Amino acid sequence: MIEQEMDFENRIVSPDYSFAEDDGELTLRPKTLDDYIGQDKVKENLRIYIKAALQRNESLDHVLLYGPPGLGKTTLSGIIAREMGVNLRVTSGPAIEKQGDLVAILTSLNQGDVLFIDEIHRLSRNVEEILYPAMEDFSLDIILGKGPSARSIRLDVPHFTLVGATTRSGQLTAPLRDRFGVLLRLELYTPEQLAQIVTRSAGILGIEIEHDGALEIASRSRGTPRIANRLLRRVRDIAQVEFDGVITEQVAQSALARFEIDELGLDDFDRKMLTTIITNYGGGPVGLDTLAAALGEEAVTIEDVYEPYLMQIGFLTRTARGRCVTKLAYDHLGINFRDNANQQSIF
Ligand code: ADE
Repeated sequence: MIEQEMDFENRIVSPDYSFAEDDGELTLRPKTLDDYIGQDKVKENLRIYIKAALQRNESLDHVLLYGPPGLGKTTLSGIIAREMGVNLRVTSGPAIEKQGDLVAILTSLNQGDVLFIDEIHRLSRNVEEILYPAMEDFSLDIILGKGPSARSIRLDVPHFTLVGATTRSGQLTAPLRDRFGVLLRLELYTPEQLAQIVTRSAGILGIEIEHDGALEIASRSRGTPRIANRLLRRVRDIAQVEFDGVITEQVAQSALARFEIDELGLDDFDRKMLTTIITNYGGGPVGLDTLAAALGEEAVTIEDVYEPYLMQIGFLTRTARGRCVTKLAYDHLGINFRDNANQQSIF
């Protein structure tokens, strides 16, 4: 049977932000587009839009960043603010509970400021309604009082740039999505790009690392800089205590083996998820909710956090009838495909 007791919060390969913040990730964040490695298409588009807005002396159009967690959406919003020469204000969908909270934020902004709303798909409908005229006309329609004596007043707010971030663009309402002038999708990073990021971070932290050591960490970081930077710090601890402090390929391999992160960056949970689909459902298809219940994890977490990487490396497919594990994954796990796969999942 499946263990229900995994400690998801403390998963070393978790891309969650709260975890990373404690880890001092802030010092590693690039501050300019030139320092930002990877996401070339996104960067080049932003560079043009920022230059154009600056030339016209206007605020930048509203930007929606979407894609899996840990890829640098918050970092990019900071870079946008800096390149535009304005202040950054950071909040998140769940943190804005009432209309009044958003009104207070919007009225305190300066001309041109960037307002970053993380997890923007989690804004309540009430709050979203305030946002529409603010994004479109830079005005707020506020209702004062209740019942027959209620009055509506219109307030102007400074021309600001909303940068929204979401892991689930499909969950945004159409009116909200339509009000963004720039939609940018962040992709998982390649091992080579992550190795550059690890090398840059090691430089900032004063860690000695060889190229092959950086590449080893990079290949096990699930395409995610936040994970790569966290692994770098943990590998450094081992390099310092058990070796001579330099992160070589062999030191990285030895440290990562101890964390039970395999050559592809899969941890216990990934392996558990894949083997559950294989042993309980013949390799799939299995519905997301069924799988979530079997693993004792929320369906959205499985979808947003675990699946993107497993799909990127070709271990998992999403079909109309549910999730299927591919032969590649069977091979990686050392499970015989012919004897353990449903007819339906053979493609
Ligand atoms: N640190 C985290 N993400 C980064 C990126 N994309 N480029 C450079 N350093 C980073």
